[in-house]
Amino acid sequence: MNRLPYNAATASYLFHVMIMKFIRTLFILPFALVLPHTSAGSDSPVSLDTPPASLEKWYKPANKRQVWLHTMFRLRREMQAIGEYAEQNDPASMAKWIERLDKDYNKIAEMVPEWEKAIKPRLLPELEMFARKGDSHRVGKTLEMIQRTCDDCHIDYQPLVTAIYRSPHYDDISVKTLDGGEQDFEDNMDDLSKSVNQILIALDDGRKAKALQAGQRLAGQLKNLGDSCNHCHEDDDYPRERILGTDTRQHLEDLQTNISAGRVKDSQKLMGEIAVSVCARCHNTHRIVYDLRDALMP
Ligand code: HEC
Ligand code: HEC
Ligand code: HEC
Repeated sequence: MNRLPYNAATASYLFHVMIMKFIRTLFILPFALVLPHTSAGSDSPVSLDTPPASLEKWYKPANKRQVWLHTMFRLRREMQAIGEYAEQNDPASMAKWIERLDKDYNKIAEMVPEWEKAIKPRLLPELEMFARKGDSHRVGKTLEMIQRTCDDCHIDYQPLVTAIYRSPHYDDISVKTLDGGEQDFEDNMDDLSKSVNQILIALDDGRKAKALQAGQRLAGQLKNLGDSCNHCHEDDDYPRERILGTDTRQHLEDLQTNISAGRVKDSQKLMGEIAVSVCARCHNTHRIVYDLRDALMP
């Protein structure tokens, strides 16, 4: 199920992981600043270093696939396989996975030479030797040492790399305007915001015709925005239905009915509901990550 063509099939999970990482980073940072001494021994503060430029080659759109990320998934699988076969005392199976780990671990520095010092390739022949001798205790210890090199790099770089190369961006999406032209995503947002406020101002000032006009514009702008969802949510109608579907269309119709009938309070209440169920609901998944990406991008 590859719903998001610009991304791996794991988009949903990664999106979540990314938000959690940012949140963790945002919380740990001020903490480390406030309590530098008590935290020094246990948790070191998180720093976000700019990743080397050569990493870009291993991500879309420079590459056809997310090569770096898939190498990482393999590394985790290989580490797990070796650990499990060590427990089961199965040297033949261990040998197979150690050979793969050796290849993929060394690929880190082959792909990104700037990271050569971040890995310890000499640990691989040692791992292979301990496995051959059936010394599962030392196999375990060596795996731990390799894991430490994984963790060190992840702490410094992982959140920013995820933000730069794998978070959705909206720059190349065009949305229809009400007069049949095209606009970018951000201009559509500005227009939405204007319409929402025009309705609220007109309601406040008792200008019914103006409010109705702006209400109609808002409905049209949201319909056009909805046509852009499949840019990412390919072959999946659910996301659009969830935010801009039957319920929302009904709200927008009810709004016009209420404004026409002069029910200002009910109209204002409906506007509040639309702002939450349409704007805020979409912003909570899409805009938060977009803004963080924008702020973190070097
Ligand atoms: C796709 C779901 C989505 C929906 C629905 C949505 N937004 Fe947005 N909005 C975004 C994203 C993503 C951004 C940040 C991207 C950008 O600014 O280009 C954004 C940014 C904005 C901005 C800042 C624009 C700027 O100039 O930086 C405003 C204002 C805004 N939205 C208003 C609204 C209002 C009002 C509504 C509801 C009537 C709404 N949005 C509905 C996704 C959405
Ligand atoms: C020199 C840096 C570096 C080293 C060493 C490294 N990684 Fe990574 N790893 C990264 C970066 C950068 C990412 C973020 C990739 C992304 O989000 O697209 C990552 C992401 C991952 C992920 C994906 C996590 C997720 O679910 O999103 C896994 C799994 C992973 N690494 C496993 C490993 C393992 C296992 C090792 C050690 C054997 C390792 N990595 C060594 C840099 C490194
Ligand atoms: C630039 C890419 C992009 C665009 C454009 C986009 N989305 Fe999303 N959306 C994502 C990503 C990434 C996720 C998180 C992964 C997932 O759930 O598929 C997501 C998640 C969602 C979710 C929550 C998950 C779900 O399936 O319930 C909803 C709802 C949603 N989007 C609605 C919309 C709507 C409505 C639009 C158009 C107005 C839209 N999206 C446009 C990238 C995008």
